[in-house]
Amino acid sequence: MSFDHFDYKGTRFAKAAHSEDTVSYAENEFEVFDDDIFNVTYPKSGTNWMIQILNLIQNKGDHEKSNILPIHIRSPWFETLGSQEQIQKMESPRILSSHLPHHIFAKSFFKSKAKIVYTLRNPRDVIVSLFHFTKILKIYKGSKEFQEVLEDFIQGNALYGSWFDHVKGWMQMKDDSRFFFITYEELLQDLRGGVVRICKFLGEDLDDAQIDLVVKHSSFKTMKDDAQTNWTQLPTDIMDQSKGSFLRKGISGDWKKHFTVAQSEYFDKVYQEKMKDLNMNFFWEQS
Ligand code: A3P
Repeated sequence: MSFDHFDYKGTRFAKAAHSEDTVSYAENEFEVFDDDIFNVTYPKSGTNWMIQILNLIQNKGDHEKSNILPIHIRSPWFETLGSQEQIQKMESPRILSSHLPHHIFAKSFFKSKAKIVYTLRNPRDVIVSLFHFTKILKIYKGSKEFQEVLEDFIQGNALYGSWFDHVKGWMQMKDDSRFFFITYEELLQDLRGGVVRICKFLGEDLDDAQIDLVVKHSSFKTMKDDAQTNWTQLPTDIMDQSKGSFLRKGISGDWKKHFTVAQSEYFDKVYQEKMKDLNMNFFWEQS
C-alpha cells in the first residue's frame, strides 16, 4: 500500500490531502473557539458516522437541516488542503473533523473549552475497512494486498501513522471533562444509548422523539442510500466507487473473514505488546 507522502513529527500524511504547511498551521496557528466540537478518529473508525450523528444532534434530529451539505464538506478536516476556506464560512458552533494524533493537535484547543468526541474501532476491522478503501481511493498506488496493508498498519506506515500511538495518545485525555470517547462497536450495539451519552456530554437537551430522529437518520442503510452521505458526489478521479462502496458493510467482526489464523495470531501478539501499558479494555475485547 503506497501513496505519495511526507512525515511530520513521526506521523504519515498524504501529499494529495495535506502539505507541511497545512499540518503545521493546524497544529500551531489554527484558532479554536470555546464552542467548537471536534470529531476525532483514526481513519476508517466511523468518522462519517459520527459527523452524521453530531450534525443531527446539533439540529435536534431535523434531517433536512443537517443534510444540506454533502457530508465530505459538512464538517471539514481542519488539517487538510483547502479546508480553511470552508471553515472560515462556517457558523458557530462548528463541528470539525480531524484524524490528527494528540501530539500534533491544535495547540489552542488545550487552552480552550472546546470539546472532542473521539470514536475508536477494533483495529482488526479498521485494517479490513482500510484494505477495501485502498481499492477505491485513488491516492493509493501499486500493490494493495491484504498482507501489505496489515504490515503497513502495524508499522505505522498508513495514512495518519500508527493506530496504536493514535489511541494511546488520545487516551491520555480520557479523564478530561472536554473529552468523550466511544467505540464503533458500542454504537453498533446500541446507537440510541450512544446518542443519549453524546448529547449529555455536549449538554444538548433532546427529547425522545428528537433522539429517535437522530438514530433513524444515522443508520447505515439511510446513509448508504443517500447521495449526501455516501460520498458518491466526489469525482471518480478521487474516489471510484465502481470498485467498491465507501459505506461498505458497516458491521463489526468482518476481520474474521479476512485474517488467516497466522495473521490473527501475529496481530494479537503485536496488539498485546503495543497496548500493554494502557491498561484499558475496550468494548470490542469483551465480545
Ligand atoms: P466498513 O468499511 O467496515 O463498512 P470512516 O468514516 O472513518 O472512513 O469509516 C468508514 C467505516 O464506517 C466503513 O466501514 C463504513 O461502512 C462505516 N460506516 C459509515 N457509516 C456507518 C453507519 N451509519 N453505521 C455503521 N457503519 C458505518
